[in-house]
Amino acid sequence: MELEELSGVGEATAEKLREAGYATVESIAAAEPGELSDAASIGDSAAEKIIKAAKQKIQLSFMTGSEVLEKRKTMKKISTSSEVVNNLLGGGIETQAITEFFGEFGSGKTQICHQLAVNVQLPEEKNGLEKSAFYIDTENTFRPERIIQMSEALELDPAPVLDNIIVARAYNSDHQVLIAEKAEEIIKEKNIGLIVVDSLTSHFRSDYSGRAMLSERQQKLNRHMHHLQRLSDIYNLAVVVTNQVMARPDFFFGDPTAPIGGHVVGHSSTFRIYLRKSKGGKRVARLIDSPNLPEGEAIFSVSKNGVRD
Ligand code: GTP
Ligand code: MG
Repeated sequence: MELEELSGVGEATAEKLREAGYATVESIAAAEPGELSDAASIGDSAAEKIIKAAKQKIQLSFMTGSEVLEKRKTMKKISTSSEVVNNLLGGGIETQAITEFFGEFGSGKTQICHQLAVNVQLPEEKNGLEKSAFYIDTENTFRPERIIQMSEALELDPAPVLDNIIVARAYNSDHQVLIAEKAEEIIKEKNIGLIVVDSLTSHFRSDYSGRAMLSERQQKLNRHMHHLQRLSDIYNLAVVVTNQVMARPDFFFGDPTAPIGGHVVGHSSTFRIYLRKSKGGKRVARLIDSPNLPEGEAIFSVSKNGVRD
């Protein structure tokens, strides 16, 4: 829900509120009138009204454990084309969740995204969803030629596979956020089962550089992630995002999940998989944290045919 939807909040006030750290309706509902009036330079009574409006907007929703279980039963999984990686993920990439692949350049993040954009189109007996992919490309690395190779390796006719991948180039972080916010129409129209954001973080890194902008970057990124999470819930689709991190010399001694420059994504992804290059072209995928699966590693490869064991 946008702040502008609250009565008494115009565009300028909403912007001031966001700048002061009130990015969500929930944060406003929980605020004191005094702090809000200071933050947005509005009168106390106006602040009180806005807080009241926010409290009314928030609908608490409850589900029983069995209802949550029923919803989980509608969750589906998309194959990565690597059996061991699928096993690591409990069968494949889940719908109703955000899966983040992070790792250094060339670790295979974009290749996995391409493979999933093909595989989501496979029938369910081949661990697809028989649906289309929406591919948000921020680095201009989507390559139809790779889709053709991967399709042919699966004995699929490449032409319809390419037609069922909707590609949106995002030129900066605001553009990227806007594309995700406008995705709903395309999701319905094109029967989307997978949203790829490759890369989730690159524009945010360059648009908000330096310490001073860190909290603003974090806030915008959090909202973006929440929006993606909502889409995955409502439309029972999978969201896959990538995040480039630099390898560090102390990686294998310290915490391998602590990227240089701090966590841009934090923990809003449901599944986080760390990718690294290993000897002889091998690649290692490591599941970092998952609400229901053990941590572990899987070794895979990238070839002309795509992602394989
Ligand atoms: P950044 O986006 O730079 O962070 O890297 P990334 O993790 O997205 O890397 P990407 O998935 O693009 O992996 C690139 C690597 O995949 C290349 O270095 C190759 O090793 C491999 N690769 C890509 N295409 C092919 C191909 O057609 N054949 C083979 N054998 N390998 C390929
Ligand atoms: Mg890439």
